[in-house]
Amino acid sequence: MGVGARKVAAKAVSPHREYEPYLEAKWGLKNHWYPAAFTHEVPDKLVKGVMIAGHEIALRRGKGGKVYALADRCAHRGVRISKKSMCLTDEHLTCWYHGFTYGLEDGVLKTILASPDDAQIGKTRIRTYPTHEKNGMIWVFVGDEDFKPVPPLTSDLPMRVPKEYDPNPVAFILDDNTFVRGIHRTGDSNWRLAVENGFDPGHVLIHYDNVFIAATDRKLALGWQPKSPEAVEVIDLPEGPKGIMNRYDPHLNLYNYINENAVTGMKVYGKQEYYVRTSMWVPGVLLVEHWPVTNWAQYEFYVPIDDTHHEYWEIIVGHCNSEEDRKEAEFKYTNFFEPLGLLEFNNRDLFAREAMQDFYEKMDGWNQEQLCKLDAVVVGWRKLAARFNRGIQAPPPGADRKD
Ligand code: FES
Ligand SMILES: [Fe+2]
Repeated sequence: MGVGARKVAAKAVSPHREYEPYLEAKWGLKNHWYPAAFTHEVPDKLVKGVMIAGHEIALRRGKGGKVYALADRCAHRGVRISKKSMCLTDEHLTCWYHGFTYGLEDGVLKTILASPDDAQIGKTRIRTYPTHEKNGMIWVFVGDEDFKPVPPLTSDLPMRVPKEYDPNPVAFILDDNTFVRGIHRTGDSNWRLAVENGFDPGHVLIHYDNVFIAATDRKLALGWQPKSPEAVEVIDLPEGPKGIMNRYDPHLNLYNYINENAVTGMKVYGKQEYYVRTSMWVPGVLLVEHWPVTNWAQYEFYVPIDDTHHEYWEIIVGHCNSEEDRKEAEFKYTNFFEPLGLLEFNNRDLFAREAMQDFYEKMDGWNQEQLCKLDAVVVGWRKLAARFNRGIQAPPPGADRKD
């Protein structure tokens, strides 16, 4: 009996087998598009440095205002080129230290300011990254330089919501007539904890006493409990994005809205029923439809910086067909959406994911967590990311490779 029991234990399969690659993705998923900066953060004559999934990247505008992205480590002595902007022409990126000057298009060393006949010229280079700029945002395709063909940006964004999902679809972030505004800030947690918090139907408890919710008398549940596997839908569009959607649609009746707890007497006070729907897309982009108000939407990008930090992008989008629409949108954004939505409301999310970091980083959290019924949706995301990523980012040279 005892021997048999030991045998069973020895054969036990990891409970994580269905999303194992996800657990290795401490530094992020590679070969995906990530937001790198807002347009206004990369003015002419400035070299802007960012880090995405361990890649140090320098952004600079060239001819016609086009944004280029190159490795932000000089091949000569390894300083970050973005430490001090030296913009001499609109075709080159010059390192401020000894003047190594690289072509923006190909990263090849074109000259050295004080050694123009140097043998290194034409032989040395730094790598380049594809970029895409639209509606005030700059995205960079981060991963292997030889990954070809580079997929379209739309394959790494939430789908454009079709009419069969919503008769009044929210605006799409890349459309010309879309108002796009937001903020980004650094969170002290691994990117996966950020994604999981954003998509977790059990996490709304942290918003229970948000000013925004109380002031609008919104009936935001203590938690949304999935009733069956149909509560989440995996969306796999050919050549398109891969996502998982919480089908909160009231007519589908796939979630129990938990509005009170009998043991503690806790209950929600808001009276106004409110419809919202969330979906999460590889490589970690949340779409919240009809938020912060009906017909608007919020995108959240959880961009890995290194293994313990992520850049938290909070973007509001809305339909905007005229100059008058734009003025009204600016007014709402400035006086409501940013202060009460992106800051007051979302500060709780940042707080929660940072509070998880120690457990997952230092206490074997991925193996020690005790998931409950609410977490079926989080596990659904883990499986999706494990299945549809284009590669797991390895730590950069010199980073701790212990786990
Ligand atoms: S370190 Fe850049 S030119 Fe010397
Ligand atoms: Fe939240």
